[in-house]
Amino acid sequence: MAFKIGLLGLGTVGTGTAEILLDTSGRNTLLNEIKIERVGVRSLDKPREVELPAGTLTTDLETLVTNPEIDIVVELLGGLEPARSLILKAIANGKHIVTANKAVIARHGDEIYTAANKAGVYVLIEAAVGGGIPIIKPLKQSLGVNRIQSLIGIVNGTTNYILTQMSALGVDFQEVLAEAQQLGYAEADPTADVDGLDAADKIAILASIAFGGRINREDILCEGIREINATDINYANNLGFVIKLLAIAKTNLEPDPSLQVRVHPTLVPKTHPLANVNEVYNAVLVQGEPLGQVMFFGPGAGKGATASAVASDIINIVGILKSNGNTKTLDPLLSLTHSDFCKLTPTEAIETRFYARFLCRDVPGVIGHLGTCFGKHNVSLESVVQIGFRNKLAEIVVVTHDVIEGDFRQALAEIKNSDTIDSIPSILRVL
Ligand code: HSE
Repeated sequence: MAFKIGLLGLGTVGTGTAEILLDTSGRNTLLNEIKIERVGVRSLDKPREVELPAGTLTTDLETLVTNPEIDIVVELLGGLEPARSLILKAIANGKHIVTANKAVIARHGDEIYTAANKAGVYVLIEAAVGGGIPIIKPLKQSLGVNRIQSLIGIVNGTTNYILTQMSALGVDFQEVLAEAQQLGYAEADPTADVDGLDAADKIAILASIAFGGRINREDILCEGIREINATDINYANNLGFVIKLLAIAKTNLEPDPSLQVRVHPTLVPKTHPLANVNEVYNAVLVQGEPLGQVMFFGPGAGKGATASAVASDIINIVGILKSNGNTKTLDPLLSLTHSDFCKLTPTEAIETRFYARFLCRDVPGVIGHLGTCFGKHNVSLESVVQIGFRNKLAEIVVVTHDVIEGDFRQALAEIKNSDTIDSIPSILRVL
């Protein structure tokens, strides 16, 4: 008996997945027991890279997800709708789900997992974060006994490519973005990537698994890379840092247990393992007790890499169906049964280091004034440098020790009111 797949979407990842399912030689033998029953597409006339048996393609996605022949629905449409509705309908019809859709899981995971747990079906999402990098299943299983303390990831390849190029060529954001769009690395509408939304979806998913609670996606602090410029990259470099878009989830024990979940450009020390993750590559550094640190690294997107994760999720479900039959009792190491929401740390209570660049009048006492304002608000400085002038104004760069974000913002508000400060062009966090 073959296990039957209904594939929603035959774009890049859908094509890569079909190719794996149809070309099984040398791969896991479970693939030989899988049949692509139907593939849901928008147009039957579009030329396809993969050859499917006649009659497999359909534009009737609603019928596909209710087809009694189909065991597993593989959703590779992307976007929120109709993906969300089709997933929920498939679950209601007893189908297991495999999806690469981080947006739908990060924003609608609550209702999707509630429905799946009730129906006794799996929703597997390895391809939703880190493309081909195995990170979801390791967090659920191989690292499952650890108390996870932090996850720090470079989980968006587009922004990592842009920042790598800016750093290598000394050019500004807009210039590299245009080039990345021409090369097909960045979308025509780059908002989801460059504003950090894609990375926020991904860290919401990882945090939910690692910390065993649902994450309200709207509460994640999310800042993108549009404001990053060659001046700050250059200062960061001279101070021993590279700038990366980091997605961070970290436990806060004081004053009350809570979880920081945030995405922002960050100065990363050049000696840190994530500093050398360049171009479109992704990596996630997991810290746990008693594990210590482990880093997952690899291709975070692309046809083959993402299809590898999708097809592996499919054989995971097939393996279970084969050994357990179609029982509705879910394996707790593969399903997600938590239903409470994690308490997130408010932004003003987050403890982190900061980098700030000031443009000031070059008069006596300016640096002293900065130091006094910071000191008054419990902000301890690690370094203060004044290297050059910009438009006849002195440029002063400050790096703080770990400080409470609310204290730092209060100090900045006071500094901004000073006659000697012209402007504060950049404020960035430091790892
Ligand atoms: N747009 C994503 C990235 C790839 O640039 O990493 C898919 O998650």
